[in-house]
Amino acid sequence: MDLLDKNIENYVESLSDSESPLLKEISGYTHKNVHQPRMLSGHIQGRILSFISKIISPKNILEIGTYTGYSALCLAEGLKDDGRLITIDKDKSLYETVNLFFKKSKFEKNIKQKVGIALEIIPTLDVKYDLVFIDADKKNYKNYFDMVIPKLNKGGVIIVDNVLWSGKVTQLDKYQNDKIAVYMNEFNNYIKNKKNISKLILPIRDGLTLIIKNED
Ligand SMILES: C[S@@+](CC[C@H](N)C(=O)[O-])C[C@H]1O[C@@H](n2cnc3c(N)ncnc32)[C@H](O)[C@@H]1O
Repeated sequence: MDLLDKNIENYVESLSDSESPLLKEISGYTHKNVHQPRMLSGHIQGRILSFISKIISPKNILEIGTYTGYSALCLAEGLKDDGRLITIDKDKSLYETVNLFFKKSKFEKNIKQKVGIALEIIPTLDVKYDLVFIDADKKNYKNYFDMVIPKLNKGGVIIVDNVLWSGKVTQLDKYQNDKIAVYMNEFNNYIKNKKNISKLILPIRDGLTLIIKNED
């Protein structure tokens, strides 16, 4: 199920900021060489991540789900000059390639890759974050939210990807065998009932939720 008409997508892409040559290279490489290239954020979602990051101007960003580094580089565009982005992925096979992409960018010194299981790595992180992007295994989204919220500064933002799961969350009677649709619907309801945060589901691409932490 396409959430956005292809003509509209093309129009929006053609009249918005372009992808940098490096982001184009990563996208091309991923589509040619890496499993499940649909996981890559892509042009418009990448620009949205970049815009949100530039508005916040974060000192510290945490990303859960590096994949080929596309979204990390988009988020890094808003970092303060001495800012840091930590990005976690369990897939060791992507590490070297992604590291080369980061080295090609101007954010080499700002980005730190961590390889491993996110649920094990997050508790070892001891800084407070201004921006977090959750984009890994869907069954742990609730756990990621619970782990990350105490590590988020007041006013900090969490962006969560794939919350509409191709729209299937709206037709669970038809997609009850799709575990991820069920997880995402549970997550969306979990967030809806949480206090002390603002939340907004944006029907962009596969659905992006924005969460603001209103109180410590
Ligand atoms: C959707 S992709 C991330 C896409 C990337 N953020 C982007 O927009 O270009 C999800 C990534 O999460 C990673 N992942 C899945 N489960 C994980 C876990 N438990 N711990 C760490 N990484 C995990 C996968 O290896 C995969 O690379």
